[in-house]
Amino acid sequence: MLTPDDRLISPTEKRGEDALDLSLRPKFLTEYIGQEKIKQNLEITVAAAKKRGEPIEHILLYGAPGLGKTTLAHVIANETGANIRVTSGPVIEKSGDLAAILTNLEAGDILFIDEIHRLNKTVEEILYPAMEDYALDIVMGKGPSARTLRLDLPKFTIIGATTLASLLSAPLRDRFGITHHLNFYESSDIEKIISRSARILNIEMDDKSKIEIARRSRRTPRIANRLLKRVRDYCEVKSDGRITIENCLDAMNMLEVDHLGLDLIDRRILETIVHKFKGGPVGLNTLAAATGEEADTIENMYEPYLMQLGFLDRSPRGRIITALGYEHLGLAMPGADKLI
Ligand code: ADE
Repeated sequence: MLTPDDRLISPTEKRGEDALDLSLRPKFLTEYIGQEKIKQNLEITVAAAKKRGEPIEHILLYGAPGLGKTTLAHVIANETGANIRVTSGPVIEKSGDLAAILTNLEAGDILFIDEIHRLNKTVEEILYPAMEDYALDIVMGKGPSARTLRLDLPKFTIIGATTLASLLSAPLRDRFGITHHLNFYESSDIEKIISRSARILNIEMDDKSKIEIARRSRRTPRIANRLLKRVRDYCEVKSDGRITIENCLDAMNMLEVDHLGLDLIDRRILETIVHKFKGGPVGLNTLAAATGEEADTIENMYEPYLMQLGFLDRSPRGRIITALGYEHLGLAMPGADKLI
């Protein structure tokens, strides 16, 4: 049988690249670069909760993958001195799994639920009284003789993370006292994050390379750190390990990451819409089948940035490539000549 701990994800379990990422994650708000508005709000939230000696309210963080939702949850735990337990929507399969996690929490603990939109309905319903009244309703028996037993839980905080707030049911969304939307980062902030990571990893690099890596990082810290490490690998093998702009550009060419940070898969998505579906509209599942990528991956990992760039549009009938998208691929938009 699984114990509650089997449904929790331990940070020390992470290996390789993820373990390295942990060393790059800021631990306190003062080290956290970007998302200024959110930081200002969180400072108040943390200070007020400390002053009252109470756990902070439940917080919902939403934003594209890699923008720092998990990092921010750990920062909040460090700032409040709370223990943090980490789990994720798809890991909690049955209501009993969540009940076991909740009954093992101590007063003041933070439970971080990543991908909270992927909790199934019966599990989600356990959360309502837990979040609102710090209570667990257990149904004993079946049929007319069934009874509900109410168990008190210690006061704790849920931090939920999701890519889109609209993916959450309204009752769940309503139970979060605080909601923050993480936006894509300013380029100058991504440059600062790269400088900080280079310092921590003892990487020597010139300023032009910092700007170049930032430009190709899709305004996302996780991608910036990943690219920095790949470019470092390249420079260690091809020269003395120092990142110079020449080696940096060679590495990016080899990685097939273009000047806007689009990779092979982004280009495959755009090209598939152009060549197989006459520029769209094409439904998400059809596009997934045609590109060989999962619909979820396209929707959450690739589309947000392609839409930010204005290369792709979502319409009720499906995905459409825009004039800018055609231009990026070096193709003429069909019928564009007729517009003049
Ligand atoms: N590493 C990843 N995200 C970061 C951030 N927002 N600030 C500082 N370092 C980071």
